[in-house]
Amino acid sequence: MGNRGMEELISLVNRLQDAFSAIGQTCDLDLPQIAVVGGQSAGKSSVLENFVGRDFLPRGSGIVTRRPLVLQLISSTSEHAEFLHCKGKKFTDFDDVRREIETETDRVTGTNKGISSIPINLRICSPNVLNLSLIDLPGITKVPSCLSSVRSPTIFMCLSFLFFFRFYLIFLSGHRTIGVITKLDLMDKGTDVRDVLENRLLPLRRGYVGVVNRSQKDIEGKKDNSAALAAERRFFKSHPAYRHMADCMGTLYLQRLLNQQLTNHIRDTLPALRSRLQGQLLSLDKEAGEYKCLNPDDPSRKTKALMQLIQHFGLDFEKRIEGSGDQVDT
Ligand code: GDP
Ligand code: NA
Ligand code: MG
Repeated sequence: MGNRGMEELISLVNRLQDAFSAIGQTCDLDLPQIAVVGGQSAGKSSVLENFVGRDFLPRGSGIVTRRPLVLQLISSTSEHAEFLHCKGKKFTDFDDVRREIETETDRVTGTNKGISSIPINLRICSPNVLNLSLIDLPGITKVPSCLSSVRSPTIFMCLSFLFFFRFYLIFLSGHRTIGVITKLDLMDKGTDVRDVLENRLLPLRRGYVGVVNRSQKDIEGKKDNSAALAAERRFFKSHPAYRHMADCMGTLYLQRLLNQQLTNHIRDTLPALRSRLQGQLLSLDKEAGEYKCLNPDDPSRKTKALMQLIQHFGLDFEKRIEGSGDQVDT
């Protein structure tokens, strides 16, 4: 399958994700996706913002992310954002996007700063992004409960070097975990994490990527994203412990790696996903049969609509699986 076909795999899963969210069902199908986990203030939101090149996430100290954010990044010639909960409304000002996330978080959690596992779905179309779907989760203390609604993600962990050792063990068992070490710029002169980044000290099957995000001061000084990316590049190119691997470090490399990993992960899980879809289709079909005699305004018609969606996706998947196979290099 060419690059184009592979990109379509991500968009197919995006549509499925939307379909289930729209009817208020959290992902029973265990869709392949990437979850961003890590310590509080490790830099998770910063990494996501760097991918997009915009400030659009609520930030600050303490637990700022209080609902999972399902973020669909879509490569496009123009730039705008759209929420699933107000579909059709196009956001072009990213300050409005942040305000909408805050409002929508409070709407569900109340203003008492509670945490909810009901996700907010945000789609961003932009020339800066590669197709990628990610879930930003509240800080690590709350991760286990949030992860229960995303059972089989490609976990992409974001840890500052300071907290790294404390949380490493939690992720050891995650075969699909990619380690992301942030705040490398804050390490004391003469110290480094070269042996971690070279995957020798605390190995992960998928290895590590180091990044340097904007500091709080950079953000307050409105340091723009391209300047930040250039500074990050300079950091790795000139650092004596990292320059030999500078090409496999940084935000842009991480974005490419995640795009590739997600595509592979979707491809690998397609057959199982397809049979789960067919299972659901069968049981919904049966259920819909039982509701046949109800009038058109009955809420159970939603089920029927979902059934049709699933049928559609099922067929779509079938086509893809048939159209892929030997062309995919593994
Ligand atoms: P989150 O809680 O994991 O989402 O963390 P945030 O992305 O909100 O970052 C928390 C704070 O750390 C912010 O003030 C960021 O500016 C700062 N920060 C994040 N990554 C880096 C980094 O790589 N270097 C520096 N110097 N500061 C960072
Ligand atoms: Na934070
Ligand atoms: Mg955050």
